[in-house]
Amino acid sequence: MTLYRATIVDTPGDPFAGDPADALATDPDGGLLVIDGVIRERGPFAALRADHPDEPLVELTGGLLLPGFVDTHVHYPQLRAIGGLGMPLLDWLEQCALPEESRLAEPEYAAPLAQEFVSELIAHGTTTALVFGSHFESAMDILFAAGQDAGLNLTTGLVLSDRILRPDLLCSPADALAASQRLIDRWHGKGRLRYAVTPRFSLSTTDEMLEVCRQLLGPGSDRDAHAADIWFTSHVNENLAEVQTVADLFPGTAHYIDTYHRHGLVTDRSVFAHNVHPTDHELDLMAQAGAWAAHCPTSNSALGSGLFPLARHVRHGVGVALGSDVGAGTGLFLPKEGLQAYFMQQLLGAQGLPLTPVHLLYLATHAGARALGLADRVGTLTVGRDFDAVWLRPEPSSSLGINLRQAADPTDALARVFALSTPHDVAGVWLRGEPAYTR
Ligand code: GUN
Ligand code: ZN
Repeated sequence: MTLYRATIVDTPGDPFAGDPADALATDPDGGLLVIDGVIRERGPFAALRADHPDEPLVELTGGLLLPGFVDTHVHYPQLRAIGGLGMPLLDWLEQCALPEESRLAEPEYAAPLAQEFVSELIAHGTTTALVFGSHFESAMDILFAAGQDAGLNLTTGLVLSDRILRPDLLCSPADALAASQRLIDRWHGKGRLRYAVTPRFSLSTTDEMLEVCRQLLGPGSDRDAHAADIWFTSHVNENLAEVQTVADLFPGTAHYIDTYHRHGLVTDRSVFAHNVHPTDHELDLMAQAGAWAAHCPTSNSALGSGLFPLARHVRHGVGVALGSDVGAGTGLFLPKEGLQAYFMQQLLGAQGLPLTPVHLLYLATHAGARALGLADRVGTLTVGRDFDAVWLRPEPSSSLGINLRQAADPTDALARVFALSTPHDVAGVWLRGEPAYTR
């Protein structure tokens, strides 16, 4: 049992559903009582201390204690391919991303990379992630093991493709089914690990491969009992040339989302990355299904993919969370994605949705937990949730340190955090109550 003292800020509400201010919860001198990794009490520190005078105390003085960040779209094999600027999606994939992804065929390459990936995620304050995996089964075993060792809340799976990409990244639908089932049997539901069925995008997957994805998700499969918790993720509507290519490859379909929908892959367990260019019909379909979009602002900016139509998602009732989309995205730090999301909505003018600091915190935490069906476990610092937290505490003499002391209230403090924070401001990270990173 441990008592933590900090300035606690989180978003138990949904700022897109009403007055954003109502979504915020703050305890300027707050206390959290954590037992076996789970938050059991929260309130003013003085009151908690009076009730628990003898418990070990961890004082997190200065800065803000936030829920650990939830990254709903990040590519493990692209950690060492960040920074390939100046190309649109399909060129970038061919020239930057996919040659690096091929290297993961060698376990000797994947093993240190997986360690680096998991420890970098945590050092950037991310405690829960939906990770786009590798095309290689051995590299996935390595990632699952690294996530398990670290205690990361990790949902990931083997990436599937059976056409158009470089040949070494392709596999047959039959092999994809067998390898995915082996990985599910070995890892799904072990501790904080879950499996995500992950066709790369319908551009690189035939109908036969998408049918394999349906089988893996159940129903009808022999794994119905625990298939309930298997997730689905892919890419959609990222770039106009990609959208046109998909339309050419699937002449019978109404639109890009339909290439997944007709295989039963658009459900409330589906997270689609990007969705920068959706039609209204696609948004309706996603909303009806309860599927979520992972908005990846720095990636969309770096690749020139476009300005995410957030207001249309919200109007149609499609949930939106944040993804770093490393390596097209420019780093693992979700507050940077929040700031870029804010910029992009500003640039959309009348079509934009003006984001408050409360929206940005929600997008980086609670929204991601909801997208992953994990909001009863993570994403806020309310009682009953795992103690997954990030302590942002800038050096007092830094620009953020100085600015935080000027903040008029918690919302103002959050605004300054999103404007100025960097990974160097992460002073501590906890995973289910265990210290996982200290600056
Ligand atoms: N679409 C298919 N693969 C990828 C990828 O690796 N990154 C991004 N941004 N889009 C994709
Ligand atoms: Zn991606």
